[in-house]
Amino acid sequence: MSKRVAILFSGSGSNMVALIDSMTGDHPARPVVAVCNNADAGGLAKAEARGVPTEVIDHRPFKGDRAAFESVLNETLARHAPDIICFAGFMRIFTDTFISHWQGRMINIHPSLLPKYRGLNTHARALEAGEAEAGCTVHEVTLELDDGPILGQARVPVLPGDTPQTLAARVLEQEHILYPAVLRRFAAGDRTPIRLP
Ligand code: GAR
Repeated sequence: MSKRVAILFSGSGSNMVALIDSMTGDHPARPVVAVCNNADAGGLAKAEARGVPTEVIDHRPFKGDRAAFESVLNETLARHAPDIICFAGFMRIFTDTFISHWQGRMINIHPSLLPKYRGLNTHARALEAGEAEAGCTVHEVTLELDDGPILGQARVPVLPGDTPQTLAARVLEQEHILYPAVLRRFAAGDRTPIRLP
């Protein structure tokens, strides 16, 4: 039976779209819901156009009460009974309670070659440090932020004249290749890391 995948995103959702579009044919998983914390997110229409149910849970009314936000998120996820949760640019930090509940079923994409540059502004920091290469990582989500076993990494060169924007665009192209490749493997029960190129 196909694995049920929930995808969580916050913005344009290009990784969410790449994941949805990959789950066809003999793929061992299918998308069951796309969850977003921002009603204005461009990605919502893209999920709907692909026939994937969407759920919006605005985090702002829960300001200062992360547990209450997560309780609604948990109820929402439970209704869709996912086997796997893919974080695809979902810009919220979770409590240990939430992570512990879903641990082993959650994967995330991060725009750096972890363990380097956890957190935000990864491309600007990589450029500032004079890195010769950058990239992205898909990893299992564990209690430590942007940590957890690495399931795949893709590398790109840093080019002369790169800005955070040009580097981000080059890395994003690789994200769209790496994340679907890792999800396919993960859904089949294989956690062997993928290295690209
Ligand atoms: C992606 O680059 C993803 O790696 C990053 O947000 C972007 C979302 O773009 N995630 C993080 O920074 C997580 N800390 P998208 O909405 O077009 O997929």
